[in-house]
Amino acid sequence: MDTRVPDNILASVGPIDHYLTALHGRIAGVTDGEIATYIPELAKVDPELFGIAIATVDGKVYTVGDSSYSFTIQSISKAFVYGYTLAEYGRDYVLSRIGVEPTGEAFNSIILDEVHKRPFNPMVNAGAMAAAELIKGDTPEARIATMLGALSRFAGRSLHVDESVLRSEQATGHRNRAIAYMMLNSGMIHSPPETILDIYFRQCSVRVTCADLAVMAATFANDGVNPLTGERALAREYIQDVLTVMNSCGMYNYAGQWSYEIGMPAKSGVAGGIIAVIPGQIGIGVFSPRLDAHGHSVRGVRVCREISETFGLHVFRNHTNSGAIIRRELSGAVVRSKRMRTPKERALLDERGELISLIEVQGGMFFGSTERLVRRIDALAADAEFVILDLRRVHDADQAARRLLLDLIEWLHERDRRLIFAHLSPDGPLGPLHIELIARGVADQMVFEHRDQALEWCENQLISAFTDTSDRTKFSLGQLDIFAGLPRDDLRILEGLVRPMVFEPGQTIVAEGDEANLFFVVARGTVTVQLRLKTENDSERIVRVASLGPGVSFGEMALLDGGHRSADVVADDRVVCYGFSVEELREVGQSHPRIFTTILGNMMRDFSERLRRANDEIRALRSSRAAQRRPKKRRMRAPMAAASASASAAMRFSSAWRPASTSPKRSISSGARANMSSNATLPISSAATSLWAIAVAVRRMPVKSDISPTMSPA
Ligand code: DON
Repeated sequence: MDTRVPDNILASVGPIDHYLTALHGRIAGVTDGEIATYIPELAKVDPELFGIAIATVDGKVYTVGDSSYSFTIQSISKAFVYGYTLAEYGRDYVLSRIGVEPTGEAFNSIILDEVHKRPFNPMVNAGAMAAAELIKGDTPEARIATMLGALSRFAGRSLHVDESVLRSEQATGHRNRAIAYMMLNSGMIHSPPETILDIYFRQCSVRVTCADLAVMAATFANDGVNPLTGERALAREYIQDVLTVMNSCGMYNYAGQWSYEIGMPAKSGVAGGIIAVIPGQIGIGVFSPRLDAHGHSVRGVRVCREISETFGLHVFRNHTNSGAIIRRELSGAVVRSKRMRTPKERALLDERGELISLIEVQGGMFFGSTERLVRRIDALAADAEFVILDLRRVHDADQAARRLLLDLIEWLHERDRRLIFAHLSPDGPLGPLHIELIARGVADQMVFEHRDQALEWCENQLISAFTDTSDRTKFSLGQLDIFAGLPRDDLRILEGLVRPMVFEPGQTIVAEGDEANLFFVVARGTVTVQLRLKTENDSERIVRVASLGPGVSFGEMALLDGGHRSADVVADDRVVCYGFSVEELREVGQSHPRIFTTILGNMMRDFSERLRRANDEIRALRSSRAAQRRPKKRRMRAPMAAASASASAAMRFSSAWRPASTSPKRSISSGARANMSSNATLPISSAATSLWAIAVAVRRMPVKSDISPTMSPA
């Protein structure tokens, strides 16, 4: 049998290839061991063949030597067939048929677990034959197809049986026959031994290359998904079962020492193949036919040992960094949503913004990292009413993370605090949490698509909690920042110029490119300033620049340059605006210069205030990570409940589980919190976007006569 195929020799392209080439060269000098001869066909192999392959969980395959030479998989098949049985029958049933205890014996040991009436484990021949009996199919051909399908999904290509090796083992495998009959005798198998032996011999005779083995091992490392094809070969829940048994039993009576020294779940085959798995990282496949006394490839063991030592890959070596879960913490006193606010609202948020905390979460969420996060949120909630979790950078989350977050939500709820989520999508890593929050009827108030929306919502809660209702329902021209300081007579003149306008949800108020001949004040509802950007594939992407609510003006730049609109402004809901014609204002300015200069002065004051805020925000976002590494000592908690002792001032926010209409109340939480940040990418600051939005001018809209120009939008 010479199945040598032209080697797909890759040029050495990088440090890993370079390392593998050197490793291969070094270990190729090892000529210890003997090739297996008990299956006569295996004795024909060239003992010098030697290939190494490493496959990563993202599908990069490094190979060196005879990596495309194909040989029979032999006992390595046992790991994959065991996985198949778990997926088909479930843990409990498979455990009732095959144990998980190491034997400390060779692969072909005849000892059986007579107490539990099952073979000791699925990695020794007896257990593998019990597993082979479980392969489904109505006919022998169908069972073979099932077995080949299961193995092929791991390899990412169709695998086939080497008929000569199969015939050779069928002719000589009498010890396996003896084991099968003994198991039949003890009731551990129920089918005719020859049918089980046929499928078992065939699974051992499947031909693979060591590159295939690396990919098959990497599929285990990748939680059961083949990194080349993206196809799931085994449900994630069974990966740990297979790897555990590989770790304790895969190397038979060498398993303890292997685990101690090399520390990788592994499986070997008498043709000279070995696989080793580093969960979450790589799969290793090695082929070299000379075997040691335990039946493992001598060079294969050496290769795995060197790779493990060189790269510190022992599975019990800790690589996790639970502390990296928090990327950055920001206070609502410094970072703001893109919502443009009235000066009064801005002042309120300056004073009370620290009641909002924002945490950028990153990486994988598992017990250790989520516990850190939960602890930090709990500490922040001593002062903050709202804690926003920006989950955009979370790539993975397990059930422990979901469980801890749900418990945290309840815990905070009892303390009148709210946990708010941004980027918690139903199909993301924390999807089940999203579904749970929907089921509890609280997703509306807790889950936002983007962090800006979450921030805006929290700001709105603060504003409504700290603002008298009357302030929010009525405007007179004199209350508008842009007209501040104008005497009553001038305001009366302006009242004559007001054009009340109504826009329906989704209606465009201002379109990019339009002539700017009006400026607006929002009287009721919310508008969004947005840009239409072309994507790479020529479709359109809408980017929200800012949103504006009652009392906020936009398009004033038209008074300065009268140019064209630089963005769209769209009504979010039913919006009432007061429009002012630039031309008419200019005319009034001729006869009443004070009106015009006051408006321009107010605009400048507003611009400079926004600019100052933009600088503050940038500074806060840039401030060192060092602050993050030195979290403030946790203060004595001043929970809102305790604060209610001074009940006149201390009223708490509604709980997360109460209906949406419940409005938050005032809080006495105090004290500036250190704003911790990193040098990471800066988001468009709210103040900067406000400056931009304000530059947007307005298209002339039809005047709606049903709105009275009294400036009382209510
Ligand atoms: O059962 C046998 O004898 C072979 N077909 C497979 C044994 C094997 O690969 C042992 N592993 N090192």
